[in-house]
Amino acid sequence: MTNILVVTGSVRPNSVNSKIVPIVENKLKEQGDTVTIADLADLNLPFFNESVSPTDPSFAPTNERVQQWTQMVANAEAIVFVTPEYNHNMSPVQLNAVDWIGKEWKDKPVALIGYGWGTGGGQAHDAAREALAVNLGAKVSEMQANLFFTKDIAPDGSIIDEVTVNEKVGAALGGIK
Ligand SMILES: Cc1cc2nc3c(=O)[nH]c(=O)nc-3n(C[C@H](O)[C@H](O)[C@H](O)COP(=O)(O)O)c2cc1C
Repeated sequence: MTNILVVTGSVRPNSVNSKIVPIVENKLKEQGDTVTIADLADLNLPFFNESVSPTDPSFAPTNERVQQWTQMVANAEAIVFVTPEYNHNMSPVQLNAVDWIGKEWKDKPVALIGYGWGTGGGQAHDAAREALAVNLGAKVSEMQANLFFTKDIAPDGSIIDEVTVNEKVGAALGGIK
């Protein structure tokens, strides 16, 4: 049994994210994992506003919500980002959450599950890899789920091809085992 943190990626009402996160959560629970959801709408992190970088040894955020988020990442054995693609990147709310943390990302197993139009979130995944793996030293799995609008899921988040969505999500989660 693994303690897994699932990080939401949208604070929009009726977001696609809110339809995909439960699919990921259920699949993890079916595997016997313990799941915690980091709901970035609830956490309501401030925009990064510290004078020093999180990778600086002196970094010690005083904001309680940032401390809570940092603890969630520190406690997790692996992290799953459910990522919408905004302007070829992770959503700003997720990127800000990534920015708030430094050393806790190091060697953390990470899985990426994304969705979008042309690349099914592939460009958001590329940006996430640059930030998390290349810059911060997380172990981002090679396996990732790219869910394509109008093929795998509808633009409102309803599932079109349940078999494919399950396969893609399962393969991405397999990468952090
Ligand atoms: C500001 C903005 C930028 C977007 N940029 C992209 C993009 O680069 N690629 C893409 O496939 N979809 C893009 N989209 C469409 C989103 O993927 C789509 O709206 C999706 O539903 C957003 O996820 P959410 O509903 O979970 O917030 C963009 C949407 C917004 C609001």
